[in-house]
Amino acid sequence: MQIYLNGRFSSRDEATVSVNDRGFLFGDGIYEVIRVVNGRLFRLEAHLKRMDRGIQKLEIPFSDKQRDELPGIMEKLVAENRLQSGEGTIYLQITRGAALPRTHAYPPAETPPTVMVMASPFVPDTDILEKGGHAITVPDIRWSRCDLKTVNLLPNVMAAQEEKKRGAGGVLMVRDGFITEGYKNNAIAVFGGTLWTYPDSPYILAGITRDVVFEIAEEEGIPVKLMPVSDEEIRTADEVMLTGTITDIQPVVSIDGHKIGTGHPGPITRLLQKGLRHRMDTE
Ligand code: PDD
Repeated sequence: MQIYLNGRFSSRDEATVSVNDRGFLFGDGIYEVIRVVNGRLFRLEAHLKRMDRGIQKLEIPFSDKQRDELPGIMEKLVAENRLQSGEGTIYLQITRGAALPRTHAYPPAETPPTVMVMASPFVPDTDILEKGGHAITVPDIRWSRCDLKTVNLLPNVMAAQEEKKRGAGGVLMVRDGFITEGYKNNAIAVFGGTLWTYPDSPYILAGITRDVVFEIAEEEGIPVKLMPVSDEEIRTADEVMLTGTITDIQPVVSIDGHKIGTGHPGPITRLLQKGLRHRMDTE
């Protein structure tokens, strides 16, 4: 597999990063995951826009020139890794680069950021998309800048491990009694035909897949309320779903053993799944 690292294309095994890299030492960097469908990068501009915001908020010295090179790099990787047909993902990570001595504050601005891009095949989990998952809740122990897509993912990693240990299919994180999102996806509940989801804030990542859901909802005349749903209330929802680049729209059919709706994926979830699939296949 060919990857891109700091201006060079090489095999994944050859590419190495310095032990002084601030991504390695401090988790000081951001990332994006972009869906590739039949060689096309789904909603690339939206991902790059979110990346720009992260770079700006974290003051990572990533130049406009470097930014403008990214789409070309991604397209080359898609071609070289034979992803022109079928499903794949692009992973992009930009860290604040390698600097010595190890100091917490940002190093001199001339320190070049580390830029890594890789393209991999992807197999959607069709079983869970069809049948839905039995989700669990866990405390949301993350920080208060979840709106930045940083590589500081230990709480997300721990939530995923809990899901695996308990044989669950989906995790809902709970902060102050309210469902925020999943560890790699956003959460949406349906009450009486209206979508409810946590408002954009420092406590969630504003997902690009969720934006697509908002678009479909608007087209279909489904109202959307950007309002938190409590841990208790969500159990009484008609439908619950998780949305994300590598999640698509996954129905949630139970939460902590409580059946959601009929215990099967509901009609609004199915409609949104269809709308997302159509957009991924045709855009
Ligand atoms: N995760 N919330 C969190 C915490 C996420 O990490 C993600 C994405 C999302 C959904 O965002 P989007 O629809 O833009 O993918 C929400 C990526 C895919 C990951 O960590 O692999």
